[in-house]
Amino acid sequence: RLAYVNGRIVPLAQASVSIEDRAYLFADGIYEVASIFGGALFDWPLHLERMARSLNELQIRAPMSDAALRIAAERLIRKSGVSTGMLYLQITRGAARRDHAFPDARTPPGLSMIARPFDFSRRVPEQQVGMTAITAADQRWSRRDIKSVALLPNVIAKQAGKEAGAYETIMIDPDGTVTEGSSTTVWVVDRDGTIVTRPLSHAVLPGLKRRRLIGLLEDAGETVAERSYDVAALKDAAEVFVTSTSSPVMPIVSIGGEAVGDGTPGPASLTACRLMWEEIE
Ligand code: PDD
Repeated sequence: RLAYVNGRIVPLAQASVSIEDRAYLFADGIYEVASIFGGALFDWPLHLERMARSLNELQIRAPMSDAALRIAAERLIRKSGVSTGMLYLQITRGAARRDHAFPDARTPPGLSMIARPFDFSRRVPEQQVGMTAITAADQRWSRRDIKSVALLPNVIAKQAGKEAGAYETIMIDPDGTVTEGSSTTVWVVDRDGTIVTRPLSHAVLPGLKRRRLIGLLEDAGETVAERSYDVAALKDAAEVFVTSTSSPVMPIVSIGGEAVGDGTPGPASLTACRLMWEEIE
């Protein structure tokens, strides 16, 4: 396996960064996860757009131009021999003597990438039966729209789900509103068939599968509403599903041991699964 680190493609075992890297010291960095189909990056311009936004919000300098980054990523994918899989990309504020304030503006940002094979078709049998979730308090900061590598609350939430035998942990704000999954966007289908997901704000990550799916559903004649909903509406929903790069669409058939709807993936969830497959295949 190979990795890209600061301008070089090296065997993964030899890929290293400084222990003074600010992502290591302060989680001072951002990331993207993009899918690869037929050896090509899927929706790459959308990832670049979100990446630029994350960098801008945190005042981290882009390590290179978009064009150069694309060439570097594609070279890594080709050399890694990945046809279907995922690219992980991380940009940090660079390595400097430990000090909370930003280092000298000339400090070069750090860039690392890994391309790994991932068989998305293994999601098909999971989509047919649906997966389970639990809920937990959302313990994150107030800028969840930035795709920062500071993921400790997400890690803790996902682990709680795993220990409960659940696929995902749906996070709830103190006022009872649902934010998102530990690594997914959450959608509910209300009793009249409207497909609902939260509007974008500082409270949630602007998911790219979310953005794609809103368009696909609307084009297919489904009714989509971007509005907040609370944990009672989640538990009372006719259907629930989650979306992300690694689980394009996943029906959730039980939450905290209680069945969602009749406990099987509902029609809107299955439509969403089908529309997304048609898009990525
Ligand atoms: N997770 N919300 C959170 C908190 C996420 O971490 C993710 C993605 C999403 C969905 O975003 P997208 O549709 O762009 O993948 C929503 C990635 C895959 C991860 O951390 O591995």
